[in-house]
This record gives sequence, structure tokens and C-alpha cells, in this order.
Amino acid sequence: MMSVSPAGASINQLRLDALMEGQLSVGREYMPSSFRQEWAVVHSYAASIMADSNRSAFTHEMAKVLLAATSFIGTVTAGKQPNYYQYIDGQMLDWYLEPVTSSTVGLIGRSLDGILALLKMLRVFETRSLNGLEAYHREHFDETQIRRRIELIEEALEKVRQYGGTDLEDPVGLDAPLESFAASTSRKCALIHLMGAPLTQSHDEVLFVRVLQASEFCFLGIRLSVSTAISAITSGEAPRAVRKLQTATRFAQLLRELLRILQTMPVEHFATFRSLTGKASALQSIGFHLMDTLLHGLNTEKLEHFRRIEHLKPVLCFCDKDFVSLKQAVLDTEESRPEWREVWAACRQFDKDLLTWRGLHLGFAKRYIPQDGPGTGGTSGARYLRQHLFRGIFDDHEPDWDSVREMFPDLEPNGHHHAMPSVLIVP
Ligand code: HEM
Repeated sequence: MMSVSPAGASINQLRLDALMEGQLSVGREYMPSSFRQEWAVVHSYAASIMADSNRSAFTHEMAKVLLAATSFIGTVTAGKQPNYYQYIDGQMLDWYLEPVTSSTVGLIGRSLDGILALLKMLRVFETRSLNGLEAYHREHFDETQIRRRIELIEEALEKVRQYGGTDLEDPVGLDAPLESFAASTSRKCALIHLMGAPLTQSHDEVLFVRVLQASEFCFLGIRLSVSTAISAITSGEAPRAVRKLQTATRFAQLLRELLRILQTMPVEHFATFRSLTGKASALQSIGFHLMDTLLHGLNTEKLEHFRRIEHLKPVLCFCDKDFVSLKQAVLDTEESRPEWREVWAACRQFDKDLLTWRGLHLGFAKRYIPQDGPGTGGTSGARYLRQHLFRGIFDDHEPDWDSVREMFPDLEPNGHHHAMPSVLIVP
């Protein structure tokens, strides 16, 4: 273990298990004010250590983990609703990825490993819950659905492994001191133990938060793979482009797997915590919008949201004249030429899988939000998602309706076909 400075030694005494227990036992919405205050002070102290350039690198590292672990308590005051990143502990996801930020391949690998770790912890949580071993999140517990959920998690785990996710466990447990978390090379311990506490005791909210977190890794994996695929296409390296598009497809397929798992949440269970997540719509996900824009360019119909949500403003940088989207890069090549044929095929497969995810997601909005009501992100809800359903790469693509109907038999494909011009000749 690294040598620890006095400031490091003082934060090393903190009981991280108490920090998590205090949140998990009641839900973040209901934390006692004394507990909130105590850890908000710790959060500020971690921030002051971070800002002090005289501290050692390792002390900074410890403070960084602590800052992320206390981020919710330190930034969401009592009675206020969290935004999307506060809700999903986005800062901890970034800390987990940090050691490989300068390597695209490293980030893609770590994202896959992160998905695997999250799914594994979810499987443990569900199995323990079934066996009566979990003390918390016992409200709104549907045993049949949990059994089905575990099967689906197993299937998803198998897929992540096939795609190259590595199973190596992180031995650091929740009762370990802060220095062990800071020194972990895989950093999976933080994903597993130091984030993801839901707002309520409602059982399925644990699932919901974990699915959002894993989906963020998928958005990142797609964005990075597609970005490399674009440069491979524009520099004429077709085989590399195919490989990268195949990687992107895998992440798109994992997004679908995650929704399959999420669908084991009964509609009435979602209602038990949805109102508290009122300001945490994934519409705020910059990872999604950057990914989406990389695929087909800036969607000007979403400009009002990119302008309204401060942190989405960077998406507007894609107006830059040098920017080439995947759509543009692919359409600039000739499908009939043998060297580009496989690139087109890989791109079509990818586009189709992501479109199917959008179709399934629309199914969620329609089924889980009563009476086609508005979304929590300030949009028209399902209507907004339907409007953007076909914003993919190839205009003639349809989602895999069989997969969509398997999950949402009541979703009418006919109502979601490509928008036909409402006027042909005469208004
Ligand atoms: C019960 C499950 C879900 C429901 C009912 C739901 C509903 C919605 C709705 C209504 C919107 C429109 C924006 C708004 O909030 O006003 C939206 C947007 C969005 N949701 Fe979900 N969602 C669910 C699960 C998920 C999951 C698991 C993810 C994965 C991260 C996700 C990612 C997104 C993204 C990225 C957007 C923005 C889409 C865009 O701008 O085109 N959603 N969702």
C-alpha cells in the first residue's frame, strides 16, 4: 500500500460501509439530516484536498474516490431531486474509467468489464434477495419476475464474456479502507460497492439504476468504436472499419439485453419511484447525444433541448464544418465496390440493432408512463421518442419488429412506420 499523508490518514479512517449503509437502508430520498450533514462535510473536505496542490498524488486519488462516493449527498440538498448524473453516480463511472482515458481500446475494454461487473453484482443482489439475505430493498418484490430476471442476467453475462469482457474479481470489499479503493487497479470495487444507491426501498429501483449505468458504458463503447470506424473509412482502411463497426454492434446488442432485463420490472413497481426521479431523465445523457450525433450528424429538431440543458451545449460543436458523421462517411463510399461491401453490411447491422433498441425504448415509454404522458426530461414523452425513432443511418431501415413485439406485443408497428409525407400534391 502507498504511504498515506496526515490528510490521507484522516480520510482513511472514514467508514465507507457506514456511508453506503446509511443510504441503502432507507433510500437516498429519506436519509436523516444528521447523516446528510456529516457526509456533506466530508464531501467538502475531499474537495478541499483535491484543490490543494501540495497533497501527494495518492492523497488526491483517495480524495477523488471519496468525492465521487459522497457526490450525491454533497450536491443534492434535502428535498431536491437529483439530475441524471447525480442519480446514476456518473462521477464514479468516470473515476472507474479514468486510468485508461487516453486509450480508445482501453476505454472500450473497461466499458465492457464495467458492464460485466455491474451485471454480476446485480445477479448477486437478486439471488441474495430471493434467499432472504438482503436486508434492504424488500418493498414491491415479485419473486417470479426476479427468477426470470436472473435467467436474463445470466444470458447477458454470457454475451458480455463472448464479446471479451473479463471476469477478474476485485478483492476490495466494502469494509476495506479508502486507501484500498484508491489503490485498486481495476477499480471495479467502486462500481460494485460505492455507488448505485437508489432513492427508495423499492426493489426494482436497484435494477433501474444499474441498467442506466451499464447503458452509459454501452453509449461510450459505441461512440468510441464509431469514431474510430469513421477515421478508418475516411482513410480507406475498410477492414479496420468493419472490426470497429462490429464492436459498436456488440454494444448495441448489449443495450437491448439490458432492456430485456429491465422489462422484468412490473409497471406498477416503476410507479413507486418514478416521481422521485423527476429531474433525472436520460434525456440529459450527453454520452447518448454525442453518440447519436456521431452517427448521423446534428439533429436540429433537438436543438431546443441542447440549448436548454446547459451541459448538452458541446453537442452543438458538431456543426463544425470538418465533422464527418458515420452516415456521411459510409454514403461517400460505393457499396458495389468489393472493398466497401463488408463495411456497408457491418454498418447496416449496427444501424438495425440500434434502431431496435430505440423501438424497445419507445415500448418502455408507452407501457410504463401512464396515458402517454410527458417524460421527466421536459419532452412530450413517447411522442418525442417516436418522432426520433427513425433517426438512424439508413433511411429505409425498420427495427427488428419481431424482437420489439416479443417484449411489447401491444406496440403497433403500423403506427411507427417512417413518416410518409402527409401531403403529396394537393394540400
Ligand atoms: C421504464 C423505463 C424507461 C422509460 C419509461 C423511459 C422513458 C423515456 C422518455 C419518455 C424519454 C423522453 C425524454 C423525456 O424524459 O422527456 C426518454 C428519453 C431517453 N431515455 Fe428513456 N426510458 C426508460 C429507460 C431508459 C433506459 C434504461 C435508458 C438507458 C440509458 C434510457 C435512455 C434514454 C435516453 C438516452 C433518452 C434520450 C433519447 C433522445 O433524446 O432521443 N431510458 N426515456
